Amino acid sequence: MDKIVALCKRRGIIFPASEIYGGIANTYDYGHYGVLLKNNIAGAWWKAMIQERDDIVALDSAIIQHPRTWEASGHLAGFTDPLVDCRACKRRFRADHLEEVRNGTAEHPDLRCGRAPSKLPGEHADCDLTEAREFNLMFETSIGPVKDAGSTVYLRPETAQGIFLAFKTTLGFARKKPPFGIAQIGKSFRNEITPGNFIFRTLEFEQMEMEFFVPPSEAEHWHQHWMEQRMAWYVSLGIDPEKLRLRPHGEDELSHYSSATSDIEYLYPIGWSELEGIANRGDFDLTQHAKYSGQKLEYVDTASGDRYVPHVIEPAAGLGRTVLTLLCDAYDEDEIGGEQRTVLRLKPAMAPIKVAVLPLVNKEGQPERAREIYEELRELMPAEYDTGGSIGKRYRRQDEIGTPWGVTVDHQTMDDGTVTLRDRDTLEQERIPASELGDELQRRLAAPWTSPKLVRR
Ligand code: GAP
Repeated sequence: MDKIVALCKRRGIIFPASEIYGGIANTYDYGHYGVLLKNNIAGAWWKAMIQERDDIVALDSAIIQHPRTWEASGHLAGFTDPLVDCRACKRRFRADHLEEVRNGTAEHPDLRCGRAPSKLPGEHADCDLTEAREFNLMFETSIGPVKDAGSTVYLRPETAQGIFLAFKTTLGFARKKPPFGIAQIGKSFRNEITPGNFIFRTLEFEQMEMEFFVPPSEAEHWHQHWMEQRMAWYVSLGIDPEKLRLRPHGEDELSHYSSATSDIEYLYPIGWSELEGIANRGDFDLTQHAKYSGQKLEYVDTASGDRYVPHVIEPAAGLGRTVLTLLCDAYDEDEIGGEQRTVLRLKPAMAPIKVAVLPLVNKEGQPERAREIYEELRELMPAEYDTGGSIGKRYRRQDEIGTPWGVTVDHQTMDDGTVTLRDRDTLEQERIPASELGDELQRRLAAPWTSPKLVRR
């Protein structure tokens, strides 16, 4: 993980937020390449949810909703972590994490007391732990200039509730009937005490959630359907299938709203951990919001006159966590000419930049010709033009951000119009006419792809 964090910082992919003030806990900024990578993942999610199906519609609901939302959803009463404070080192820990570490079922590097790095809180003479207390994970704020009891609102801890609140309106205009889904991507916020595993768990994070409303008798079928679809989607991003698994929740792990949940887990450098949860939420949410709002939240079949509260199957993924998964999965090191190289072997469709156009030397008309080629290619795909440093250095830079192809303009280009086209993974360099570059790169971008890490294995 340290190497991935260092690469992300070095190349401006993701870095600590508020750095000039010393940073802020578990909060990160996405730089240029991080934004492009994140957008590619979000684009692939929307494509799978909306473009390739006709039973899901999109939504972008508000972050701050009516405060009754969180009473109805159960978050106000139950969305809590048990926390203990160390009076000596002034740090706060999750009581359940402490317990897991003590009984040897988990290792949480953050649980080391500030004053005694080699020991757990409670094991050092200085440590003075409080009893565990329940802390709500929702961030609270207030509407209006005066804070009073009536003005308290919350930053949403999941995007899902916005979908339930918009269910009735959406049903009215979407011309859909169950089974149908509502999908959204947006920020959620949780006041988490975390082990500081980079962007694995952050205070604010983007979720990609879809609530699929189904006739109650079909819930089991659709739960199965979505588990298969979502696993296949991660594989389609180029992720190693052997590092993905489905793990059903035990009874004691289930959220208050769920009758069955399975997590898609990935084998991160920190071990197998959740990437996405796929829950059968039953009719819990619609029933609760109907009760609290006094509105009927049900589906009425106009032909048969049947009415029922749909059950909900929810694939809930983290966008940042998928970024981390792709980074972990793609990270690789090899050796070129005796020198070590770091390379992100991203599937080309996911790579922030598809092609870099580089003049071999900054003279003899090469920069001008390279710039022309770059300007043609950027109409077709994200491209970069780079003149800074030796050609080797420029290739290394592109390898580190996962650019699958490099085009070099050299003295021969000026004579016969050909360029060299370099492949990030095979390192092969072919000469092709510059006029054929657009077609050739588009062909490669659309071609099936298997990670060289899998081929090697
Ligand atoms: N609506 C259901 C729900 O929110 P969840 O398992 O709490 O379920 C879904 O969250 C996904 O959101 C997780 O699988 C994870 O990918 C992501 N996620 C949750 N909390 C996160 C956090 N603090 N930081 C980053 N991603 C998070």
